[in-house]
Amino acid sequence: MSARIFSIANQKGGTGKTTLSMNFAAGLALRGRVLVIDADPQGSAGQWCSLSADNKPFPVSVIAVGGNLAREAERFAKDYDFIVIDCPPTLENSNMALAMQVSDDILIPVLPSPVDLWASIRLTDAIEHAKIRNRKLKPYIVINQLEPRSALSSAMAEALQEFNIPTLRSSVRRRAIYRNAAVEGVSVYCMGKRGEAAAKEIDEIIEEIL
Ligand SMILES: Nc1ncnc2c1ncn2[C@@H]1O[C@H](COP(=O)(O)OP(=O)(O)O)[C@@H](O)[C@H]1O
Ligand SMILES: [Mg+2]
Repeated sequence: MSARIFSIANQKGGTGKTTLSMNFAAGLALRGRVLVIDADPQGSAGQWCSLSADNKPFPVSVIAVGGNLAREAERFAKDYDFIVIDCPPTLENSNMALAMQVSDDILIPVLPSPVDLWASIRLTDAIEHAKIRNRKLKPYIVINQLEPRSALSSAMAEALQEFNIPTLRSSVRRRAIYRNAAVEGVSVYCMGKRGEAAAKEIDEIIEEIL
């Protein structure tokens, strides 16, 4: 068996890569063995785990990429069912290209505004380029921080249609619980009743992709 490898990527910072990586990984951990590879030099995924209390450890191992990301992912692939790569917020970092080279799926969290979506355009070129060598690579846009109780604006829906990349039906709402979980170094799955709605939407994303 070889792990299914997911990259969480957007060359823009602050779109929710680390938040999605960690919660998606925690949800996958209910379905198999998961490894998170922190490929962002800022090391946010690693920091996240360092905040966990001893009696509530994060359910997934997180390692910082040391050498060649593609080689490391391939080496770990036989020991895990899923690998989640939290990508750097720039296309200039060589780990970005390596992540796309080894991944099965690439999840692109975008904020629900057309301006943010257009800022992700260079990533779509990079994906097309990566697909020449990695034909299995499947990209998906994941709307993050969708306003509670409001639908996607028609401007945003229109902008999404101009992309070659499909948008997941399931999206992530803006919820304080995502920030609270990060502060405690846990996932929304560990936040009891307060985290239920968030855990449910992460589960829906996982089911839609798997
Ligand atoms: N769905 C969400 N609801 C509320 N806050 C969020 C959500 N997603 C991300 N955030 C917050 O937005 C900020 C940026 O998210 P982060 O995951 O660090 O982005 P990136 O890794 O792309 O830079 C963080 O403070 C995070 O807690
Ligand atoms: Mg990050």
